[in-house]
Amino acid sequence: MTDTTHVPTPTRSADRPTDAPAGTAHVLVVDDQAIVREFLAEVLRMQGHRVSVATDGLAALEIARTDPPQVLLTDLKMSGMDGQGLVRRIREAFPAIVPVVITGFGTVQHAVDLMREGAFDVLTKPCPASEIVSTVGKALEHQRALQSNADLRERLRVHEKLAMIGKLAAGVAHELNNPLDATLRCVRMAMDRTQADPEAKEVLDLAHAGLLRMADIVKSLLTFSRHAAIEQKQEPLDHVTEEAAVGVTMALGDEAPKITRTIEGEVRFTPVPRGLHQVLTNVVRNAADATGRTGHVEIRGARDGDHLRLEVRDDGPGMAPAVLQRIFEPFFTTKPPGKGTGLGLPISARIVEKFGGSITVECPPAGGTVVRITLPFTAGAAAAGA
Ligand SMILES: Nc1ncnc2c1ncn2[C@@H]1O[C@H](COP(=O)(O)OP(=O)(O)O)[C@@H](O)[C@H]1O
Ligand SMILES: [Mg+2]
Repeated sequence: MTDTTHVPTPTRSADRPTDAPAGTAHVLVVDDQAIVREFLAEVLRMQGHRVSVATDGLAALEIARTDPPQVLLTDLKMSGMDGQGLVRRIREAFPAIVPVVITGFGTVQHAVDLMREGAFDVLTKPCPASEIVSTVGKALEHQRALQSNADLRERLRVHEKLAMIGKLAAGVAHELNNPLDATLRCVRMAMDRTQADPEAKEVLDLAHAGLLRMADIVKSLLTFSRHAAIEQKQEPLDHVTEEAAVGVTMALGDEAPKITRTIEGEVRFTPVPRGLHQVLTNVVRNAADATGRTGHVEIRGARDGDHLRLEVRDDGPGMAPAVLQRIFEPFFTTKPPGKGTGLGLPISARIVEKFGGSITVECPPAGGTVVRITLPFTAGAAAAGA
């Protein structure tokens, strides 16, 4: 509760500086004195900000971890970890959060030390509401600038990588495609002629499997570099999902998990482009790789307004945030060499986008992974004409 005998009650109009920047944010207020904490929180809430409060540094770090704010407004002198320690920890662990310190012990040296530690600004108590509002506003602008720079850098990095890989892949895959095809044919011929010799058969089977894997990678690279046609022919959703489920089950044999399909009657025979089969096969295969044979993978299909929504859910271990962040990056894989190419999801995203849809991946706190693919019902028609 704000005690109006100690601190002025903030009022919406009078305290708002005329140059208050537009936009609101999540602000974390840390102060061990309830009255100050409530005052600061109230001032900020009146500006439309969402405010979390903490009474000490440790509680603040926990909030920063679970529900990160854009701006941290912290007192300096607190029991346990003080404001300076908190700013240091925040800068190290959560560089996207902009810290502002508010202190009753303001010396110039102190302020300089705090800024060096990474504080965006240092306010001295008692601090008028208008100054709090404008400083938090500036901190927020600063935070947004940092964020959009980081986003931009990240997008550029991925874009450059994509462009480079596209060029490389197109060249190499093109060169490899023909000799690979010829070698496969030779091996198949030799296999036909060595039926009677078990040793030779075994060796040729191995060579054949290796060549198939190479052909698979070359095909992925060609799809990735837009040199392979994406199948546009329409087929009922039921067929496409069944084919993916059966294909993955056959490919994994004894190691396959239980794969079930729950397709709403209404969309069961909705025509979808055949290229979706490649997407589903990869996503289901990823799910199966994650769960192992004791797991469960479910493919769901339903209407969602004027979109078709497909989900592939698994009860595997999910992904750490650092992995989840990178899964659409070409060549990013956590699988052992020879198992993954890291092209499955980037290719899937490219195909789904080509059909005018989108793909997202989420690891819910309860566990497992959910891949959502949303397609407009007109996807096939639109893509066919593309
Ligand atoms: N259902 C899932 N559960 C856990 N991790 C997954 C899942 N789907 C994808 N991943 C992660 O994403 C990475 C990239 O997937 P992908 O692009 O298909 O390449 P690859 O399967 O060749 O590794 C995988 O190596 C894995 O770490
Ligand atoms: Mg994959």
